[in-house]
Amino acid sequence: MKIIVLNGSPRPEGNTAAMIRAYRTGAEKAGHSVTVFDVCRMDIRGCLACEYCHTKAFRTCVRQDDMQKIYPVLDEADMIVLASPIYYHGFSGQLQCAINRIYAPGYPKKLKKAALLLSSGDHGVYDGAIFAYQNSFIEYLHLEDMGIFTAAGSENQSEELLTRLTAAGAALTDPDDHNVARLVITADDVTVRAKLNGTTAARDLMNRLPMTVTGFDSGIDYCCECADGALDESEMQDGWKNGDINLSGGYFAILYGGEEQSASYRQMIVAHLPEDENRMIQTLPKESVFEISLEEPYRRRDT
Ligand SMILES: Cc1cc2nc3c(=O)[nH]c(=O)nc-3n(C[C@H](O)[C@H](O)[C@H](O)COP(=O)(O)O)c2cc1C
Repeated sequence: MKIIVLNGSPRPEGNTAAMIRAYRTGAEKAGHSVTVFDVCRMDIRGCLACEYCHTKAFRTCVRQDDMQKIYPVLDEADMIVLASPIYYHGFSGQLQCAINRIYAPGYPKKLKKAALLLSSGDHGVYDGAIFAYQNSFIEYLHLEDMGIFTAAGSENQSEELLTRLTAAGAALTDPDDHNVARLVITADDVTVRAKLNGTTAARDLMNRLPMTVTGFDSGIDYCCECADGALDESEMQDGWKNGDINLSGGYFAILYGGEEQSASYRQMIVAHLPEDENRMIQTLPKESVFEISLEEPYRRRDT
């Protein structure tokens, strides 16, 4: 898989850099490709909160600085690693700046996993950084946590730490089916699970669940009224495959048939039902109420 590392330490031979080197060695041995961005050596300025990315040019940041080098790599990455020295109980300012700028793409397209590497002088100083990681990455972006690694004081650059990090990097595996989030859709006594894709609309939908919608069988789909939410026009496609689920135009549509005649319809596909489950959907009454939620472990803690 593709791993992006944001290194928040300004010291090229420092403690954070040593942690990254060890983790990277293991990950590369396991066949993963790793791109490290030393954000302290890049020209990355703060988010202006101008909302250009949400109102004028979707997912595009107006600031033309080095963050523009990070965005395309972030969109291709399966995993993100945040690595930072602890400064005043949080990330370094430079890393926080880069993190804030992820506001523009919002939901990086393929991210499934994350890990956190932290170095500090003292023990017991990690709560702030861990809170940000868990809430802004694991929970909000629905990523699988691949571990939080800390090194305080004399633990830094110790053989024990670096060996543990190399082993953790080497144990990383590609995101597989197990890590793909699924919608759980229940109507009457039928429950099916649809695999979500990595589109902006799908990621946004995850944060809007659970929801209840009512659908009418049109002969090729169950068409339910449902607000669109965030959507990247460039991810829309012509037509669908039987079993696809569309979320656009004010509809949540379970497109169980009609694939052959679908080419002229523009769709925002967010999920797909396997063949067997697609067959089960077709046994439902003409009008059905669908309860839609998220399969564990992706469900948010507060729902
Ligand atoms: C501006 C600044 C703030 C720091 N704040 C803390 C802190 O709040 N708690 C702590 O334990 N260490 C703190 N440290 C120490 C660093 O976290 C520690 O030396 C770390 O290992 C440095 O990592 P590096 O070698 O990758 O730069 C601070 C260091 C600097 C320069």
